[in-house]
Amino acid sequence: MTDQITTDEPVYVVEDLIAQDIDAYLDIHQHKSMLRFITCGSVDDGKSTLIGRLLYDSKMIFEDQLAALENDSKKVGTQGQEIDFALLVDGLAAEREQGITIDVAYRFFNTEKRKFIVADCPGHEQYTRNMVTGASTADLAVILIDARKGVLVQTRRHSYLCHLIGIKNIVLAVNKMDLVDYEHAVFDAIVKDYTEFARSIGIENFTAMPISGYKGDNITARSPNTPWYKGPTLVDHLETVEVLSSVDADKPLRLPVQWVNRPNLDFRGFSGLIATGSVKPGDAVRVLPSGKTSTVSRVVTLDGDLDEAVAGQSVTVCFEDEIDCSRGDVIATADNPPQAADQFEATLVWLNDDAMHVGRAYWLKLGTQTVSVTVQQPKYVVNVNTMEHLAAKTLDLNAIGVAEITTDRAIVFEPYADSRTLGGFILIDKITNATVAAGMINFSLRRAQNVHWQALEVGREAHAALKNQKPAVLWFTGLSGSGKSTVANLVEKKLHALGKHTFLLDGDNVRHGLNKDLGFTEADRIENIRRVGEVARLMTDAGLIVLTAFISPFRAEREMVRGLLPEGEFYEIFIDTPLEEAERRDVKGLYKKARSGQLKNFTGIDSPYEAPEHPAVRIDTTRQSPEDAADLIVDLLLGAS
Ligand code: ADX
Repeated sequence: MTDQITTDEPVYVVEDLIAQDIDAYLDIHQHKSMLRFITCGSVDDGKSTLIGRLLYDSKMIFEDQLAALENDSKKVGTQGQEIDFALLVDGLAAEREQGITIDVAYRFFNTEKRKFIVADCPGHEQYTRNMVTGASTADLAVILIDARKGVLVQTRRHSYLCHLIGIKNIVLAVNKMDLVDYEHAVFDAIVKDYTEFARSIGIENFTAMPISGYKGDNITARSPNTPWYKGPTLVDHLETVEVLSSVDADKPLRLPVQWVNRPNLDFRGFSGLIATGSVKPGDAVRVLPSGKTSTVSRVVTLDGDLDEAVAGQSVTVCFEDEIDCSRGDVIATADNPPQAADQFEATLVWLNDDAMHVGRAYWLKLGTQTVSVTVQQPKYVVNVNTMEHLAAKTLDLNAIGVAEITTDRAIVFEPYADSRTLGGFILIDKITNATVAAGMINFSLRRAQNVHWQALEVGREAHAALKNQKPAVLWFTGLSGSGKSTVANLVEKKLHALGKHTFLLDGDNVRHGLNKDLGFTEADRIENIRRVGEVARLMTDAGLIVLTAFISPFRAEREMVRGLLPEGEFYEIFIDTPLEEAERRDVKGLYKKARSGQLKNFTGIDSPYEAPEHPAVRIDTTRQSPEDAADLIVDLLLGAS
């Protein structure tokens, strides 16, 4: 197995659907700049009403929707002002019944000056996942506060998440001012409270405004009810606030290569979206991670060649020389390139129901780069309500934690604080392809830069050639007492008799030495298999045929070991003894202990076993004798080499 993902992950399906809508929308409003923002607030802070108001005031509601809305609204008034705008946004009937918004909804609207994409995110704690999704592409966050309630735990949590995701523009919208008689003192007290909190988590500035989404105060027009307020209206602010991409254009060039554009032998260009900086013909550039340099000869787009392209534009660049550059590489300013490293400290937001498995290999996708990674036990998790740092063994759904990660090869990166594109990543489960976490690189670990591969003069081929054999790993998996060791022993005897150089690694034995520090928790089993996999790999480098007999209950770790070896050297052998049969034999008396509760986490009883889906060999020990099984395996191995 290689470290390439062969199919497009389902991760993108949702984004693609959104992208289609966005494309259609952008067609109409090509010439205007765009602001992506997110609204956050508690369940009844009036978020949906505010968005409904923005859409309504910018005439984005279609006539038929408006009619339906008026019917739906319990409080239909004369000038449309009393329409319940929340009904428009809350959309699905089910959500309406529940009274909460449960997923991220993207909506588009535009004014004379700008077009907008707004992500409406729910406020409940269990929906951190949705909020992070909505916030990840936002330039600005509107944090809604109910003027009657002031700064709440949710306000803090949302602000923290927005800050964590790197949103630089924060609007504190003190809503429902009509319900506090537009009192200046109420507004001031809330702003003072929030300022204190914001400073404590590192938010340097924000824009506070008194509004009423329901009545329309300070939304599009300055309200006569708040003469004491001198700042902009919400729409004014949204229309004029500086969008990050214009700031990004001043940074050094970072162009992650999406694909190599080579329609014929006369043209070779590298296509991608410029993350930061600008590029023009004549620029000296460096390709990472190789470090090779060249000069840009052309900047090509569908509409012809450009004199210059900047952050946010998709382009194809051509070089003056034929240097190597492929998908996943990053084209950068020659004298100011990003770093490459393979160990990092990162902040992770766990998005999956299945908690993080320490030591398990996941795919990490950062821009156009995909590599295999493992995550260490978290240094701490953050309590998003109090911002306290707490100790934790893993990350559960919605947890935010800081942990060290190791990639299987160097990746080109920048700290997230400097670049969302080169510092932000997702983790993908290798078996289910689900996106399990969003992550932000804090920094690389120094030790990573100082440990290099040593090139060996006597290589694995030389070792194998001297032994006159092809190295392989025969990986036996199955329940405790299934017969793994018995069959593996027989296979080794037969191979040895045939003059093959072999070595058998057995669970019970390895656990007395190399792995005597490990028990039977999930994390320990993962580490057990990781070490055994690495040892098996070293032994194949020495030219040996390695046999391993471990329960190895998890598919992900067996696949991880497969991935450590060259294609075709890993044979998964499933010793398929049903639980009832293994328990009936109970050779070590362990099932009895497990059933009586003396032995915890016993595979098959209170710890899972994930059977192989496509083993190279499956042995049914209720029908095949160990002798026959061993012959079959030896034939398969020697037939293949
Ligand atoms: S693995 O799950 O990490 O692959 P491994 O094969 O190394 O397990 O060790 C399994 C052996 O340890 C079993 O055959 C049994 O003799 C012993 N053992 C002790 N406790 C347990 C347990 N809780 N679950 C499974 N095996 C156990």
